[in-house]
Amino acid sequence: MKKSVLQRFNALAGLITIFSIIGAHQLVAQTVWLDQLDLNAATQGYGTPGKNRSIDRKPITIAGKTFQRGFSTHAVSSLQVLLEGKANSFSAQVGIDDEVTGHEPAVEFELYGDGKKLWSSGIMRLGDAARPCSVTLIGVQKLELVVTDGGNGNYYDHADWADAKFETTGGAALSTYNPISGEPYILTPKPPASPRINGSSVFGVRPGSPFLFRIPATGERPMLFSANELPAGLKLDEKTGIITGKLLKEGTYVVTLGAKNAKGKADKKLRIVCGNRIALTPPMGWNSWNCFAGEVSADKVKRAAAAMIKSDLVNHGWTYINIDDFWQNHRDPKDSTIRGQLRDDRGNIVPNARFGNMKELADYVHNAGLKIGLYSSPGPWTCGGCAGSYGFEKQDAERYALWEFDYLKYDWCSYGGVIDGMPNNDPYKISSLSYKGGNNLNAAVRPFKIMGAYLRQQPRDIVFSLCQYGMSDVWKWGDSVGGNCWRTTNDITDTWTSVKNIALEQDKAAAWAKPGNWNDPDMLVVGTVGWGNPHPSKLKPDEQYLHISLWCLFSAPLLIGCDMEKLDDFTLNLLTNDEVIAVDQDPLGRQATCKQTIGDLRIYVKEMEDGSHAVGFCNLGLERATLSYKDFDKLGIYGKQQVRDLWRQKNIAHIDGNNKELAITVPAHGVLLYKFSGVK
Ligand code: GLA
Repeated sequence: MKKSVLQRFNALAGLITIFSIIGAHQLVAQTVWLDQLDLNAATQGYGTPGKNRSIDRKPITIAGKTFQRGFSTHAVSSLQVLLEGKANSFSAQVGIDDEVTGHEPAVEFELYGDGKKLWSSGIMRLGDAARPCSVTLIGVQKLELVVTDGGNGNYYDHADWADAKFETTGGAALSTYNPISGEPYILTPKPPASPRINGSSVFGVRPGSPFLFRIPATGERPMLFSANELPAGLKLDEKTGIITGKLLKEGTYVVTLGAKNAKGKADKKLRIVCGNRIALTPPMGWNSWNCFAGEVSADKVKRAAAAMIKSDLVNHGWTYINIDDFWQNHRDPKDSTIRGQLRDDRGNIVPNARFGNMKELADYVHNAGLKIGLYSSPGPWTCGGCAGSYGFEKQDAERYALWEFDYLKYDWCSYGGVIDGMPNNDPYKISSLSYKGGNNLNAAVRPFKIMGAYLRQQPRDIVFSLCQYGMSDVWKWGDSVGGNCWRTTNDITDTWTSVKNIALEQDKAAAWAKPGNWNDPDMLVVGTVGWGNPHPSKLKPDEQYLHISLWCLFSAPLLIGCDMEKLDDFTLNLLTNDEVIAVDQDPLGRQATCKQTIGDLRIYVKEMEDGSHAVGFCNLGLERATLSYKDFDKLGIYGKQQVRDLWRQKNIAHIDGNNKELAITVPAHGVLLYKFSGVK
C-alpha cells in the first residue's frame, strides 16, 4: 500500500520526535553510582550499610588507598538491584576495610545476574589491594551483590564495594529492593476472657529447695486459683496463683491447678517432680544483654520484671529475669557507676553502684512470683571486663544463694587466658576466638565442673547455664558438670544471617537435649534490641516468626532480649502464642532436627510427648515456596492425621492414606508451624 505525502511526513516527524526523546533521555551513556541508590535494602551480618563511609563510618580505605565513594557492608551481605535491562555494566574496587587492622577477616565478593554467577573476587584478606570488578550487564534484570564470610566466620568482615557504579543508557532509574516483606502481621488470636492455664505441665525441684511457681493463666481478673492434691510443704496463694514452700521428700506429685473468673473456669494437671533434676523444660524469661548490654542497672531490671507482669507475658509462662554482664565493678572504669572495689576485704564480690543491694532486688522479683538470674565468668574478667569468679568460685556460689538467685549464666570470656597463663590480658582478646585449649577437653570442662559443684552445694535450686559458644562439643559433657543449658554457638545479632547460621548449626547437638539439659542457640532478637543502642529488630516479620518457631522446635531456652517496656503489638503477639510455646515446653524434651530439604525449604520435626509431631516448614530462600507436600513417611508421620496451624491456632486439614497431599505455601524467610496429631 502506498503512503500519502502527509502520512510520510507524519511518520518522519514521529521518528524525529521519538529519536529526540531517546537521544535526550536514553541514548546518552550515564553513570549511576551505587551509593545513589537506597543501600538500606541490603541485608548484612552486622551493623548497617554504609554510604561513602566504612562500617565504622570512617573514610573507605583498602590497603592504604582511600576511596571517596562506595557501599560498605558486613559479611554475610546481599544487596539486590533492579536493572530491568537498563544497565550496560557495573564496576567497583573491592576489598576489606583497613579499619579492622589487628583481626583476621576474610571474605569473597560475588556478583549474580538473574541468579547466575557473573563474577567473584576470590578470597580476600585484610591488606589485599583492592581488586577491580567489571562486568557487562546487557539484558540483565536483577543484579545481586553478595559478600560471603570467606569460610572462616564473619568476625570483622568489613567489606567495601568502593567506586561502585553502573553505566546505563540514559539515566535509567535503577533501584534496590529487599525481597522479604517488611509489613508486620498478626497471626495469634487473642486469648479468651475465660481462664486458660498455660505454661509447662512439669516442674522439677530438689528436696529442701525453696519452691516458687506462679500459675500462668490468661483471662479476665479477678481470678481465683486452686491446686488440688498439693503435697504437704507447699501452699497456694489463691489470689495470685503463686505456690511457695518446700518439699522434703523425693517423688512425683500430680496436682490439678484450677483458675476461675466471672467468665468461667479451667484446670490443668501439673506434675511436680521432686528429685535431682531441675529445668525439666527449657527456662523462659528475659535477659538484659541484647537490649541494655553494659548499661544495665537494678532499676532497669525491676522495670523489666514489672513489664513482664503488666504485659501479661507472665501468664504465658515467662518467668526468669536475668541480669547479664555489668552488675559487677569494672577493671577499667571510665564510668563512675561501675568504678569501685571488685571484692571486699573478705573477697566477697561487690555489686556496682547501679545495683547495690542484690538481695533486695531478688526479693522484688520473687514477690511478683518471678525468678532472678545473674552472670559471671570462670575467668578473672567477664567478657565486658567486669570482675569474674576466678579463684572465688565457692564464695561466689554462696553469695548468689545468700542473695537468693535462681539462675547463673557462666561465660568463658577471659578463662582462655588462665589456660594460657595470661589472666590479665584484655578479656576481649582472649575470648573464645583465641582459645588455645580448644582441643583440650579437661581444660574446657574444668571451670564449669568447679562452679557446677559449688552451685549444687547451695540450699536452693540454681539453674546453671554454660556459655562457651559450643567449644569442645559442650552438649556431650554439659550434663556431667551440672549444666542445665549450654550455648552451642556464638553470639546472636538481630540479622537474618546470624539467625539462619545459628539455626543451621543446631542439629549436631540435638541428640543430647533432654529434660534438664538444653542446647542454647542464644537469646531472642525480637522487639527493641540493640546492645545499648536500641532499635527495632532488623529481622523482618516472617524472619521473626521463623526465629521463634525454630527456637521452640529446638527446645531452646527462651530468653527475650528486648526492652520490655517497649513491647509493640506484633512482638507481644509473637511471644504469647501458647500453642507455639507448648512446642518448646513439651515435657518429652526432644529437639527437632531437619528431616528433609527441598530446595531452600528445610522441614524440621519434633516428637512430642502425646505422640504428635510438631513440624516446621522453614523457607530459607528468597522466593515463596509453594508445593503439594506428600513425603510424610520421610518425617516419620504415618496414618490418619489432623493438621493444626499453631501460629493461627486453627485445624486446617486431615490427611490419611488416600489423601496424603497437603498444599503448602511458605513465605520467603518464613515458616509454617504445624502440629500433626494421629486420629483413629
Ligand atoms: C558474651 C556472651 C553474651 C554476653 C556477653 C557479655 O559475648 O556470649 O551472651 O553475655 O558476653 O559480655
